[in-house]
Amino acid sequence: MKRNRVIWLVALLGLVLAAEAEASPVKRWDPATKTCRVFDFDSGWWGTGGQLWRTKCKSCHTRDNDKGAPFLYMESKSSTAWNRVFLEKYPQCAKDGAWDSLTLDETLKLNDYLYRFGANTYDANDANDCG
Ligand code: HEC
Repeated sequence: MKRNRVIWLVALLGLVLAAEAEASPVKRWDPATKTCRVFDFDSGWWGTGGQLWRTKCKSCHTRDNDKGAPFLYMESKSSTAWNRVFLEKYPQCAKDGAWDSLTLDETLKLNDYLYRFGANTYDANDANDCG
């Protein structure tokens, strides 16, 4: 009897976890500026956020680059992990000044973009993402 109960619990947990897959987020709480950022054109890959990613970050973080930078793309990190990158600015490149040309507004839009398209944000079974 006890064993059955455990099996049920595990099955239930599996269901709960499966339901966790989320549709692309539509807004983001920015802890640094304490503002709620509602995503619009600028946080898309076609907007300012995507452009900044390609010009200011992918200039180094491409596959097989000669700058010693690890390959990075949007899904290299989860949304919350990207938030931490920008809140704490812990990467060595940020400390070395590679981000210095970014204004606060640009940093926020770049963060929005990476948050919006971070790992596990796409769910084809969600009406918001299925097209
Ligand atoms: C001039 C080249 C250069 C530019 C531009 C650059 N980076 Fe980096 N980045 C590096 C290098 C080199 C490292 C590895 C540093 C180390 O660990 O010693 C790094 C490390 C990182 C890491 C840590 C690696 C990881 O897997 O967590 C992150 C995150 C990161 N960069 C994000 C960014 C973002 C976001 C931008 C754009 C705002 C950016 N970088 C722009 C060179 C660059």
